[in-house]
Amino acid sequence: MSLWRPPERIRHLPEGGHWPTAAEAHASRLFSPIAYGPLTLAQRTWIPAMVPWRASDDGSVTPRVIEWYERFALGRPGAIVLEATGIRDVPSGPLLRIGDDRFIAGLRKLVERIRVASGGQTRLFIQLIDFLPIRRRPDPARFICEFLVLTERHRQAFGAPGADDAEIRAWLNALPHAELARVLSPREFEALEFGARERVTDVELAHIAALPQSLPPLFAAAARRARLAGFDGTELHYAHAYTMASFLSPLNTRTDGYGGSAEHRLRLPLEVYRRVRAEVGSDFALGCRLLAEECIVGGGGLEDSTRFALAFAGAGMDFLSLSRGGKFEDAGQPKMGEAAYPYTGRSGYECMPSYYSDARGPFGRNVAPAQSLRQILRTQGFETPIVVSGGIHNFEQAESVLVDGAADIVGLARQALADPDWFAKVKAGRGTDVRLCRYTNYCEALDQRHREVTCELWDRERLDEPGIARSADGKRRLSAPR
Ligand SMILES: Cc1cc2nc3c(=O)[nH]c(=O)nc-3n(C[C@H](O)[C@H](O)[C@H](O)COP(=O)(O)O)c2cc1C
Ligand code: SF4
Repeated sequence: MSLWRPPERIRHLPEGGHWPTAAEAHASRLFSPIAYGPLTLAQRTWIPAMVPWRASDDGSVTPRVIEWYERFALGRPGAIVLEATGIRDVPSGPLLRIGDDRFIAGLRKLVERIRVASGGQTRLFIQLIDFLPIRRRPDPARFICEFLVLTERHRQAFGAPGADDAEIRAWLNALPHAELARVLSPREFEALEFGARERVTDVELAHIAALPQSLPPLFAAAARRARLAGFDGTELHYAHAYTMASFLSPLNTRTDGYGGSAEHRLRLPLEVYRRVRAEVGSDFALGCRLLAEECIVGGGGLEDSTRFALAFAGAGMDFLSLSRGGKFEDAGQPKMGEAAYPYTGRSGYECMPSYYSDARGPFGRNVAPAQSLRQILRTQGFETPIVVSGGIHNFEQAESVLVDGAADIVGLARQALADPDWFAKVKAGRGTDVRLCRYTNYCEALDQRHREVTCELWDRERLDEPGIARSADGKRRLSAPR
């Protein structure tokens, strides 16, 4: 499934702009420290969470996971947020997990290696995620003959009382597509076309109805393990297409006090935060990633996110990291046998904008919303640090985000992947040596296929280097050359 692109298809090239001398970098805001409660960074740079698909099939840290983060740590950014890590003890493919104490040892080793690689200069946080089950897009005949639960709706459409299930299924299977869209319920048709996906509003399912009871202890136990493993803090994943963001969304129409009004939508995210805080204490950095704007029809905008940010700051969060978009609601149709992917639609573009863009371009699309949100936070007396990311790649951009008051910390995800030494090079006055990200989203396409994420600017370089780790097909190196 290809990623959505703005129809204007205006090509934007990243530019290095003016790189600072070492003295200018030293005097800059970007390379100045920040301290807010337990959040203490040596510089205001941040590598936001990126799933590299290097964990084992049971969700454990592997040597490849360690190499991936060690490589980032060598560049000595202010902070690295470890990839979205599952809080439940359920199989989730090669996605890192922290849903049981047996995961602590591997994570502790990872933390220790990062401390060494960064010379203790980089703070390390872990992003904690919960997500709801999603199925792959099924083969239509199998869906109709095996998975579809026949209901009165189908029987009535068939129109012959007393018909047996096999007859009805055979009839459905032979129906033209447009007719099937009429006969199946919207959710059934979606399951056929995209694969079935549970939502926080499916309260007829007991485990969905019980999320407000089950999630706070799950998040709290995961954060306790993160602390035991030696992390400096935890980022609660309240963004993109996942459970907590879905609670915050206006599309959450639950009527049990956890949906509907903004106040009710906020309730579970606040309850999760409080439970986690009670577990880890006040000297462990605890914040969340949330969406400045959902960027979908009927989704939340700045008014909502500002309200949420005020509530989270008031409750005592130590940082708020702003992202945008990345939702299932506008995701493209997956190929048969594949699962829908929340970064393939327009909102996905807003989350990870690529170089073919509209007139606004892919660089810093979240900066103006962040500025507006942060300004309100400050006028209400909250000093909670704001992290912003999205298309930031050169020093001038990063510095102006801080100087203009749009954020307190600057996130560089794909730029850090393109050149993990960005931070060290720019700080040393060697910005002209930076390998600039071209925002091609080659890395993102690998992520979508759950293949080891690499950057096309370096993954075929010096493949003969002794001892380097390669992708499963042997064609790509897995970490950037030194
Ligand atoms: C390969 C890849 C994996 C990502 N995984 C996550 C993730 O686990 N959690 C998350 O919040 N964002 C994830 N993101 C989004 C990034 O953190 C970031 O918000 C986005 O790439 C925009 O920032 P950038 O323009 O600096 O890359 C991922 C991005 C990429 C490219
Ligand atoms: S593959 Fe490399 S250049 Fe392309 S978007 Fe990803 S990090 Fe940037």
